[in-house]
Amino acid sequence: MHVVIINGSPRIQKYSNTEKIIASFTDGLSEKGASFETHAISNRKSWETIQKAYIENEEILIALPLYVECVPGLLLEFLETLPKKDEHTRISFLLQSGFAEGCQLRCGEEFLAKLPGYLGVRYGGCLVKGNNFGIRILDEEKQRQVTKPYQAMGRLFADGDGFFRVEAKKFTGPETFPLPLRLMMQFIFKTFAKKMFQKAAASWGCTVPLDEKIWETNSSCRE
Ligand SMILES: Cc1cc2nc3c(=O)[nH]c(=O)nc-3n(C[C@H](O)[C@H](O)[C@H](O)COP(=O)(O)O)c2cc1C
Repeated sequence: MHVVIINGSPRIQKYSNTEKIIASFTDGLSEKGASFETHAISNRKSWETIQKAYIENEEILIALPLYVECVPGLLLEFLETLPKKDEHTRISFLLQSGFAEGCQLRCGEEFLAKLPGYLGVRYGGCLVKGNNFGIRILDEEKQRQVTKPYQAMGRLFADGDGFFRVEAKKFTGPETFPLPLRLMMQFIFKTFAKKMFQKAAASWGCTVPLDEKIWETNSSCRE
């Protein structure tokens, strides 16, 4: 099996969580003797090369982050450039997100399930998993640890059944958290996590609070 893997995140590869997940997934593919090539749509200059890879290959995997509950706009723009093919080609998806509960990725999953039909190709299923907000701010060793479960999914995918097997379905984890846990997380997000995000933003040069209402403080926004 040869898999064309397309990173559908608008983020440049160096900072993309999807990229780190792909790296672990491909370790699993290699273990099972499958070959692969990886591409990223974040660099528009590479779109022609990716279109060519899509046209010339039959096993396509699009790995993408959930952005505002659905598919990133840049990926939609890229998908619109792809020509129709036939059922010899299969497209599967690896959908990952920041928040952890499976339920909040289902809208995106349903949307993705329709796309192969528009392109005339087969659907290979969608691997769904959240809890990936922090990958890119971890050191390399920790990144390897948190993305390691995707290696097993790479091995599974190399078996040829896409993401339809029960192991892939279980991979999502809990659909919703129990109420006490949700309340606790709400508290953590409003306190410790907020502080941590503010610190990370400051290290990237942000000088205002993350919940700054620029439309209230910046007079040019009001005009
Ligand atoms: C503009 C934007 C919108 C996002 N929307 C969501 C969302 O609706 N739900 C969610 O769980 N995570 C959301 N996230 C978090 C990303 O899905 C998550 O951090 C992902 O791992 C990013 O992958 P990437 O670095 O490859 O782009 C969003 C991130 C950004 C930047």
